[in-house]
Amino acid sequence: MPPNGLHAALVLSRKPHARILSIDDSGANSSPGFAGIFFHKDVPGGNAIGPVVNDEEIFASEFVTFVGQVIGVVVADTQENAKLAARKVHVKYEELPAILSIEDALKAKSFLPNTERHIEKGDVDLCFQSGCCDKILEGEVHVGGQEHFYLETNSSLVWTTDSGNEVHMISSTQNLGIIPPDRFTPSPLHVIGNAKFIAHECPQKHQKYVSHVLGLPMSKVVCKTKRIGGGFGGKETRSACFAAVACVPSYLLNRPVKLTLDRDIDMMISGQRHTFLGKYKVGFTNDGKVQALDLEIYNNGGNSLDLSGAVLERAMFHSDNVYDIPNVRINGKVCLTNFPSHTAFRGFGGPQGMLITENWIQRIATELKKSPEEIREINFQSEGCVTHYGQQLQHFTLPRVWNELKSSCEFLKARGEVDQFNLQNRWKKRGVAMVPTKFGISFTTKFMNQAGALVHVYTDGTVLVTHGGVEMGQGLHTKVAQVAASSFNIPLSSVFISETSTDKVPNSTPTAASASSDMYGAAVLDACEQIKARMEPIASKRNFSSFAEDNPRMVAYTQGSFFGCIFLTMWGFALFGMKSQRLDLILVTACYLERIDLSAHGFYITPDIHFDWKTGKGSPFSYFTYGASFAEVEIDTLTGDFHTRVANVFLDLGHSINPAIDVGQIEGAFVQGLGWVALEELKWGDAAQQWIPPGCLYTCGPGSYKIPSINDVPLNLMFHSEGAPNPKAIHSSKAVGEPPFFLASSVFFAIKDAIVAARREWGTKTGFL
Ligand code: MTE
Ligand code: HPA
Ligand code: MOS
Repeated sequence: MPPNGLHAALVLSRKPHARILSIDDSGANSSPGFAGIFFHKDVPGGNAIGPVVNDEEIFASEFVTFVGQVIGVVVADTQENAKLAARKVHVKYEELPAILSIEDALKAKSFLPNTERHIEKGDVDLCFQSGCCDKILEGEVHVGGQEHFYLETNSSLVWTTDSGNEVHMISSTQNLGIIPPDRFTPSPLHVIGNAKFIAHECPQKHQKYVSHVLGLPMSKVVCKTKRIGGGFGGKETRSACFAAVACVPSYLLNRPVKLTLDRDIDMMISGQRHTFLGKYKVGFTNDGKVQALDLEIYNNGGNSLDLSGAVLERAMFHSDNVYDIPNVRINGKVCLTNFPSHTAFRGFGGPQGMLITENWIQRIATELKKSPEEIREINFQSEGCVTHYGQQLQHFTLPRVWNELKSSCEFLKARGEVDQFNLQNRWKKRGVAMVPTKFGISFTTKFMNQAGALVHVYTDGTVLVTHGGVEMGQGLHTKVAQVAASSFNIPLSSVFISETSTDKVPNSTPTAASASSDMYGAAVLDACEQIKARMEPIASKRNFSSFAEDNPRMVAYTQGSFFGCIFLTMWGFALFGMKSQRLDLILVTACYLERIDLSAHGFYITPDIHFDWKTGKGSPFSYFTYGASFAEVEIDTLTGDFHTRVANVFLDLGHSINPAIDVGQIEGAFVQGLGWVALEELKWGDAAQQWIPPGCLYTCGPGSYKIPSINDVPLNLMFHSEGAPNPKAIHSSKAVGEPPFFLASSVFFAIKDAIVAARREWGTKTGFL
């Protein structure tokens, strides 16, 4: 924090939907350490923002549309004083009816404009009518949300330079750059009940938000970050809103301002994994072969669009999971409700789509008195299959992964042992399940699949790499540094990645969709290859003993000072031919002396991807990551407790660039998924929870919101990731960040399996679970 810096605290809405009648900030003005308070009327540029359409306000002007919406910002000398002053602001509201669930939204027909999506293959109606299905089942699947619970809450430090003419900021974001307009064409108004707020065109993002809000050109705004304490999708777009809030007082007072959200505030207002509702009708033969699927799918977008449209689309793309269904019809819509804007979260709708699928698979199994694993196997897609959205599957390695998992966990033996245990135990029951997954790699929004990088080679042979991706614990910088090191054939310790910054690599896409090592790895490789090509004429002239200087004193001279450089140059000439310091044998030095440009900008675009929502057909994904997992659980039927006894996870990760990182990603994704399916539960004030004030989040801290802890980690986590080389990505590797998340649903289905065993014993009519 710079010496004259101020701390910010937010004035937040207390109502889910209301008109603002008046704001009394007199108490705040006389509060200790108070330095300023700002509302919508103080925004120097535009108050309307949003990553895809501009349907959000930095500061609520006339209406508030969720509890926790930002109405104003207070700055003071300390964080405590800022919070104290913010508490002294009194807002009067005229309350309006609120929509607090997907069901309410369906009843009120409250949808985000232009979010209807449709995908169709074959003829679903004909199939249902023609008698090609022996049985037809209908049902609903309600999929719950999830809090990101990154360790570092949203935080930004903004300061001005050159007498307030430029703005710089450090922000905990996955997205420093910009997202230009998308195909979700905005309609002029969002209407919930009486409230109308305007959705402008021309959306912007982070650096662009800040410049837009302040009315500055983007060239005068620099956003940077060294690393962030986790993002998991929660900082793909939402952090930009808080950065924009912080930049208003900083710019207007010409002083540094820091805004760090407390955990409870962050949980309340920054958006979560979307809840989904799937209404399905599925027809199948007596053997269990699925013939037709008719699916309506809805997600709870909250009060604005954010990324909800793209999340819905990914859920629709993943609604086949790994199954070949001849006739499919999927209709989707995003619900507009009075909650914070829900957003990206590891899997980005994919897990929700696949969870709906695996639920009806399980129902078919119950109906036909077969195991879900049998139903899964007979419906598997195969090489060359065409998905419901028209993409042909190539290098389909799922059967291999599935079979290896099945034999490694000795599935049939495990099944037998569990059945035996259940016969002998009344109050404890065990269950098993095996679940497959296929995760599409690429941003489904085509223009986002681009990546830039900047590589500098210094005269001591060390390399500074900068690229558009953000390090959030996923090991991106390590993998990208490995790509540079192997390209130049130098040790990893010679490559350094310092930070991500909009003044080094502009217009970057958010670090998301698991594709960052693919994309930034390739962009960096492009830059390295340009430099290598320039070095080639020198390199081919003679045999160089090394790429770089290996004398540490020389390093100090050359990097440390101007004189060092002169010294090196003179020395280079002076020592030519001397045996002890053979500078002429050092490639980088030789190139420098020959005036070769040792810096390059690299760029990559993912080839061969396209999709057209008008036809509902295309190939949105560059490739797929396949996996499967086995879980065995034990439940306590008296306490409702459960415990994961075994979890085996197999993933085809191609030729991994860094297996240690990939194992960490699989572990993290699996345990985070385990929290989603079996431990975490958000409680909002809605029709079901009337003891909570409407629209308020009750579970806004670890005391009431249970994320996995060390004793929830399965005892026996096993991985296998030696896959087939992937021709579609850097060094034949595969994306890993999100794909394993859904595999934790094997724990969920194993719990279901154990409950079925308990109910069967007690003679309860099982029905479907
Ligand atoms: N791993 C850690 N440690 N922290 C994170 O925030 N985010 C996940 C995943 N793994 C995340 C993580 C999400 S949601 C994505 S999309 C990817 O990392 C993004 O990084 P990548 O593209 O480099 O895989
Ligand atoms: N994945 C993750 N983030 C995104 C995507 C996606 O497909 N599209 C837009 N943001
Ligand atoms: Mo990840 S949800 O694509 O940031």
